[in-house]
Parts: sequence; structure tokens; C-alpha cells
Amino acid sequence: MKWLVTGCSGFVGTNIVNYLIQKNEEVIGIDIKKPKINNIKSFKFIKFDLSVRKGLNDYINDVDYVINLAAIVSIPYSKKYPNKTKSTNVKIFRNILHNINIKKTKCIIFASSSAIYGDSLKNYEKKKISNFFSAYAQSKYLNEIDAKNFYKKYKISLIGLRYFNLYGSFSNANSRYSSVIPKWINNLIKKKVIIINGDGNQSRDFVHVDDIVKINYMLAKNFGKIKTFKLFNIGSGKSTSLKTLLNYLVKFSKIKKYKIKFRPSADFGVMESKANIKLFKQSFKFNFTKLDKGLKKTIQFYER
Ligand SMILES: NC(=O)c1ccc[n+]([C@@H]2O[C@H](COP(=O)([O-])OP(=O)(O)OC[C@H]3O[C@@H](n4cnc5c(N)ncnc54)[C@H](O)[C@@H]3O)[C@@H](O)[C@H]2O)c1
Repeated sequence: MKWLVTGCSGFVGTNIVNYLIQKNEEVIGIDIKKPKINNIKSFKFIKFDLSVRKGLNDYINDVDYVINLAAIVSIPYSKKYPNKTKSTNVKIFRNILHNINIKKTKCIIFASSSAIYGDSLKNYEKKKISNFFSAYAQSKYLNEIDAKNFYKKYKISLIGLRYFNLYGSFSNANSRYSSVIPKWINNLIKKKVIIINGDGNQSRDFVHVDDIVKINYMLAKNFGKIKTFKLFNIGSGKSTSLKTLLNYLVKFSKIKKYKIKFRPSADFGVMESKANIKLFKQSFKFNFTKLDKGLKKTIQFYER
């Protein structure tokens, strides 16, 4: 089967492409950045700005499954450049939808985000959401609306995954927009100060990228056989405070000496984030990687 993975050079994309290659699938990857995977016969990379360029159809009209990951992903960046973030993320997804072969493509899985829920856990149950905290969140919500409309018109399976906090191999540790796990592992290894925004009691639902990879594969195969539109929260269903996270990282990296600096007034986002995965669990049997196991594996990746 032929897969299209957009954002194939990023954190999740690299992991997904690796997995698909192992499964002997044929993959076309699109990104504006060079991929980390090279010289593999079953993986064809196309450098292409999905928010600007036309002519995508020539490359993707024979794909069976689509996994859309390409996006501007940083919430702080999106607060600085809201219009650019919103229009880029919307254009990328529309470009894909308008260029796939509706007769051949079986299922499109697209990355949404828990960011769309804003600041309230109560929002997790709501169907309609309106108070977005960032242009990033809004862009992901607009992707979901586009997906629903596209499904209504063309009856191709469209599955939106509202990811919580993903971590694991190949996550960028060196950008100022890096997420907390790679950033802190990197700082521990390089003996740099660990900066905690707020008091460290804010908590997040961390999900290992190996789970994301398997879920994407499983859902594409499953929903490729039936025609449907679905949205799932994808998190572990457990929330861990940043203080606890740091304790784990210190313990597993066996680093004895490290320095912490608190930034009490920093904008650290929501206080608690925890996925309601009832719908996903009702539909699929899946065991999420335990945080301790996932962190040990991630530390090994960054120590290599
Ligand atoms: N990592 C997380 O914790 C998390 C949480 C929620 C949602 N998500 C979503 O999952 C997806 C993957 O996230 P990630 O962490 O791998 O991000 P990432 O930044 O590592 O990867 C995104 C990739 O998209 C590419 N891209 C951006 N604009 C593009 C364009 N115009 N044309 C082609 N390619 C373009 C980038 O070059 C990058 O390689 C994103 O859509 C993100 O919003 C991620």
C-alpha cells in the first residue's frame, strides 16, 4: 500500500516513516525540511511547501493512506504570528484534501491537538468549542471543520487525532520552542540550568511517540475499510506534574548534580491537562506505554 506522510522530517513524521518502512509499506514524504531518513528504496521524499505550492496532485494521486502532520506547531510562535500560523495550517490541509485522488484514497488521518480545549477540563466533553487560547489551537479546530465538510461531500474516511503531549525519539531538543521533555533531558546531559515555568505543579498528559505511530497505522487500516468521520483524544489518560517529571528524568539519567531556576510569572499554559480517552478505549484495545518506560527509552535516545 502507498502512504503519504506530510511533515515527514519532523518529530512524529520521522517515527511514522520509520515504522511504515519496517512494515514494508511504500511511503511518500513531503516536508519543507530535509528528512532524517535517507537512501531507502521504499521512501520517496519530496521537498514541497504545502501552504504555497500548487501541483501537488502529480505526486499524490495514487496514495491509499494519508497522514497529515505538516504544520506550524509551536503555541508561543503562534501567539507571536497568529495570522501566519492560522493561514499556513489551514492552507496545508486544504491543499492535501483538494489534491488527493478521491477514488483511490481510503483514509486520511490528520493531527489535531488538545490545545483546542483551551483552559478547561470541562471542555473535554464539549462538542462545540469557541474560546481558543492561540491561533494554533484555532487552526487545528478549522482543520477539523474542513475534514468534516470534506467527509460529508466525498465520503472518504477522515480521522482527526487530538494529541496531548507527545515525547520520544527525534523530538527537537535544541529549539526555543522545544517541548519540556527533550529540553530538560538535553539540559541535564549538558549540565545546563533546568528552567521551570510557574511552580512546577502544572501537569500534562504525556504520550510516547511509539504509541502514536502504532495508533496511526491501526486506525488507517481499520477506517480504510469503512467510510467515517471521527475525532479521538489521544493521550494516556494520566496527568503528571512537571516536578514529578523532573524527578523521573533525574532518576533515570543518573545525574547527581543539576540546577533549577523557577520563572514564576512565565506563561505556562493550562494548569492541568489530561485526556478523556473513553471514546478511543471503547473503540480499540490499546495499552499505552508507561511513563517510566517511555522516559527511560527517550533518555537513551538523547544519550546516544
Ligand atoms: N508534538 C506534540 O506534542 C504534538 C501535540 C499535539 C499536536 N501535534 C501535532 O502533530 C503534528 C506533528 O507534530 P511534530 O511534533 O512532529 O512537529 P514538528 O514540528 O516536528 O513537525 C512538523 C513538520 O511539518 C513541516 N512543515 C511545516 N510547514 C510545512 C509546509 N508549509 N509544507 C510542508 N511541510 C511543512 C515542518 O518542516 C516539520 O518537519 C503537528 O501537526 C502538530 O501540530 C503535536
